[in-house]
Amino acid sequence: MEIQTVIGRYADADVHALAVAVFKDEKADEGFLKSLDAATSGIVRSIIDAEEIKGKEGETAYLHLPADKVGMKAKGILLVGVGERDGYKLAQVSQMAGAAVRALRARNVKTVGLVLRGPEAAVEGAVAKAVEGAIIGLFEPDKYRTVDKEERQIERLVVVADEGADENGVKREAERGRIIGESVNFTRDLANEPGAFMTPTIMAERAQDIAREFGLEIDVLDRGRMEQEGMGSLLSVARGSEEPPMLIILKYTPEGKAKGNGGQLALVGKGITFDTGGISIKPGENMELMKYDMSGGATVLGVMRAIAQLKPSIPVIGVVPAAENMPSGKATKPGDVVRAMSGKTIEVINTDAEGRLVLADGISYAKKLGATQIIDMATLTGAVSIALGDVNTGILGTDQQLINEIIEAGAEVGEKFWQLPLDKEYSKQIKSDIADIKNVGGRKAGTITAAAFLKEFADGVSWAHLDIAGTAWGDEARPFRAKGPTGVAVRMLLNFIDRAAR
Ligand code: BES
Ligand code: ZN
Ligand code: ZN
Repeated sequence: MEIQTVIGRYADADVHALAVAVFKDEKADEGFLKSLDAATSGIVRSIIDAEEIKGKEGETAYLHLPADKVGMKAKGILLVGVGERDGYKLAQVSQMAGAAVRALRARNVKTVGLVLRGPEAAVEGAVAKAVEGAIIGLFEPDKYRTVDKEERQIERLVVVADEGADENGVKREAERGRIIGESVNFTRDLANEPGAFMTPTIMAERAQDIAREFGLEIDVLDRGRMEQEGMGSLLSVARGSEEPPMLIILKYTPEGKAKGNGGQLALVGKGITFDTGGISIKPGENMELMKYDMSGGATVLGVMRAIAQLKPSIPVIGVVPAAENMPSGKATKPGDVVRAMSGKTIEVINTDAEGRLVLADGISYAKKLGATQIIDMATLTGAVSIALGDVNTGILGTDQQLINEIIEAGAEVGEKFWQLPLDKEYSKQIKSDIADIKNVGGRKAGTITAAAFLKEFADGVSWAHLDIAGTAWGDEARPFRAKGPTGVAVRMLLNFIDRAAR
């Protein structure tokens, strides 16, 4: 899709259809809609007066413009409901753009103009959000369909920035939006791949591709090097699989003098390319979804892919412990004791609690690489979707300031994070009779005890953990995105890094 930008003059935009936001209960006899109505000889007003659209979020109405009667190049206008005017922030611009391109693609429209209305004081920023939202909106998970595949394509997107926008700023922001949108889709594409097509080896190859294309340092530890590092915890998960585990490291170093707090940020993502549960095997129902158990790792790769291009002024390391969790004659058994890189011994009570086992060594290795601040992300517990559903990502950690910054960075991009407590009392639940700790903490507070386990390895650094098990997959399509992998946390992390680099 070709992306262009213009400022203000939407009537001249050479596109088939224009998309315009409509606020809740907005009338056509004042402000922006009045001018649009004048340019369309009263058609906009007739639709709004008839209450065909009332501005509710996700609502759309399409109107055909009679070619000879109006002073506009476009042949149609899509009105897109965006809810309350007060709540219309940058995150909503992204959703509006996604809903607009999805609705227009469904009408087989090939060229689209997105007419931006504020939010005020963020004219250029809105351009990035519109491009990002459009790219994310057009993603479909139907890669392996040969029939009924979404073949329609929007060929050209013209973003019409608000009057008063700066031309260079608009161009820069459009590029930024493109990079972010494509990186979110990169993450979604990885998460969507079936286990057979996204093994630890293939994940490492995808990381190599990013490193080569966008210029990042890369290192991939194979089984031999993991043994040298004493990563008995990560290795225990891979034992049952024919697929060798990989520990993927991507490193971004800014040119010139780094800004920020002088620390070293590391992102650590769970990369279980398929989770059968191992010997503690999962029930068959919905097991196919466990292909997305590498979403945390995919998030790390997507973020690294983006920052290699956006070039923030702080250094970032990405760490992805990748393995496949399978039952076999060689697999780790419940009751086995393994020794993690940190030296801690772990009794593996349940081989299905494997995410924390690979993260334990991933976190230790991030520390060895010099990390002073660690954010890990993982589809770690089914319990988090019981607690928070698919609306909020669970966040826990040891550094309240870091947690607050993540929650704020998320809110700015429309991603919600909800903190769960991590009092030391919960750690009692993971005490083992025969080893230092065990990998499950019983039925109570499953998301918290999983985090309490990770905390054992994140001592000495500022640390936050994101449990994305409930939010990394959308069971239903939304007006602004397809169902399937969501790429959650990529945008939050890019915003977090952007804020930290100021
Ligand atoms: N990958 C799962 C968690 C999961 C469940 C992610 C549903 C996405 C959707 C994880 O490895 C797991 O199996 N966790 C167990 C932990 C339990 C054995 C303590 C769980 O949540 O049931
Ligand atoms: Zn599991
Ligand atoms: Zn898992």
